[in-house]
Amino acid sequence: GDASVVTHALAKDELSKLRDVETEQVAFRKGLVRLGRICGYEITDGRLETEYVEIQTPMTTTMGERVKGLDDVVIVNVLRAATPFVEGLLKAFPRARQGVISASRDESAGMNDDGEFPISVDYVKLPEIRPEDTVIVADPMLATGSTMTKVVEHITEESPDPEQFIVLSAVAAPPGIVRVSEAFPDVDLLTVAIDDELDEDGFIVPGLGDAGDRAFR
Ligand code: PRP
Repeated sequence: GDASVVTHALAKDELSKLRDVETEQVAFRKGLVRLGRICGYEITDGRLETEYVEIQTPMTTTMGERVKGLDDVVIVNVLRAATPFVEGLLKAFPRARQGVISASRDESAGMNDDGEFPISVDYVKLPEIRPEDTVIVADPMLATGSTMTKVVEHITEESPDPEQFIVLSAVAAPPGIVRVSEAFPDVDLLTVAIDDELDEDGFIVPGLGDAGDRAFR
């Protein structure tokens, strides 16, 4: 199991502010939006093709370049922590179609012996996914990977394989990376940081705490 890392210096700058315990709710939410935008640019730069087009400037005709595939992007928002992150992604992919999945860990049940949490999936609404699409499933935290495994199962059972299937996180822990990449070898994991470990409650360390709580209350 392997993940690619977003290397843009601004992504690291934003993530460092998100990690800081002093960053309060409004700054945290805005930071997630900015990080989403930077990740969107990174995906555009590395994973979408461009093509040359002839354009007419006010002076003359010349060759310009456009990004192909901007009409073939699907963003899936894993409630709830992904909402501000997706808001940022949409600035890079304004014409994306969007899916929403509500999936959350049953924290009271605790981790089982395999290091997984039971996940309740309460709401799934996906747009049509086509073979030419780039699907980006966004969730700031990939911890045990229990949530993401359920989310990707729902998407893949309803839809044909897209051209690219990207799972995007801000912070990922090794057990989550392993779980998702073993379950779905064709999925591309992209994250701003790969952290050291999970604590006994399944929280990412050093991490950034509970992203949903920090953004929403
Ligand atoms: C957090 C986080 C991920 C999940 C990651 O969500 O936003 O969705 O946990 O953990 P995992 O990889 O171990 O499954 P949470 O269940 O706290 O819900 P919330 O986003 O509504 O706060």
